Amino acid sequence: MAKILVTGGLGFIGSHTVVELQNKGFEVVIIDDLSNSSIDVLNRITSITGIAPSFEKLDLKDKPKVQAFFKAHQDIQGVIHFAASKAVGESVDKPLQYYENNINTLIYILQELQKLKTANFIFSSSCTVYGQADELPITENAPVKKAESPYGNTKQIGEEIIQDTCKVTSHLKAIALRYFNPIGAHSSAKIGELPIGVPQNLVPFITQTAIGIREQLSVFGDDYPTHDGTCIRDYIHVVDLAKAHVIALQRLIEDKNTSNFETFNVGTGTGSTVLEVIQSFEKVSGQKLNYKIANRRAGDIISAYANTTKANNELGWKAELTLDDAMASAWKWEQEIRSK
Ligand code: WQD
Repeated sequence: MAKILVTGGLGFIGSHTVVELQNKGFEVVIIDDLSNSSIDVLNRITSITGIAPSFEKLDLKDKPKVQAFFKAHQDIQGVIHFAASKAVGESVDKPLQYYENNINTLIYILQELQKLKTANFIFSSSCTVYGQADELPITENAPVKKAESPYGNTKQIGEEIIQDTCKVTSHLKAIALRYFNPIGAHSSAKIGELPIGVPQNLVPFITQTAIGIREQLSVFGDDYPTHDGTCIRDYIHVVDLAKAHVIALQRLIEDKNTSNFETFNVGTGTGSTVLEVIQSFEKVSGQKLNYKIANRRAGDIISAYANTTKANNELGWKAELTLDDAMASAWKWEQEIRSK
């Protein structure tokens, strides 16, 4: 049973990926510094799969600790690297914190992978690397544009670091998965998105408004050049996204990759406006949502949704769950965690 390291494995996407890895028979070791997650997620994962992942609380910025970890785990077959800071707005205020946490940690992990006999590396990237793409839907060949935030820049720089390292490390194979907008929760409602403080992202703000934690949702602008004036995004169910990671890892382990650094867009291929997301929530919850139209949010792009041809045809992965499935699961999760 191949042993896989999942960094940030107690986070939103990480925890869902650990569940899917265990479902496929992988042995999972989680590293998490608990800066943006809770140790309780470990028990929740175990309650879903019946298998307790190994866990080490470790700050990946501590290079000697990273070296010691890999020395003790020479049998790791693959790494899925989620651990990073990911709040776009915060990254503008604290750029050095983001460069240190997102770049140094990546370098330390890659340095250790260079020492192993074989290394399969899956990198959590983002459609944010495209900025506002000139052509929609967005393909992997779309030009990478100057990042609009230090967060986005760490994803662009991260991909370049990995690509350059793969060029000089013949045994290292890597895939960067460029996520669109992950939403929703596991059907068990035992794991899901746990934003700390006021949610920056749309869907947790919707569910927190509906359950009464937030007074009202502000829709950031309805004067965009879209069919209803609100921004378009490609909202992908987190379980579909998690499965894409397992398929990408299997691709590398089975040597099916066509080069030792590949990128794939991971989205549904369908764009939804903010108002359509609200309508989906109202449909699946049976509740009217309290929202108002507010000013545009600085830095928002108008529209982004994936061309999924490469992921479908080469990776052999396709999103199966719908926006309604995702909104229903997000609502069930919100109700579950507030029922405690
Ligand atoms: C979606 C739409 C907002 C909140 C970001 C990062 C991306 C990834 C996901 C980390 C936009 C609108 C939102 C609200 C609103 N993060 N909105 N009211 O900005 O597309 O992507 O988060 O990997 O890299 O860039 O996601 O959910 O913040 O916004 O109207 O209270 O919802 O204007 O149009 P975004 P989001």
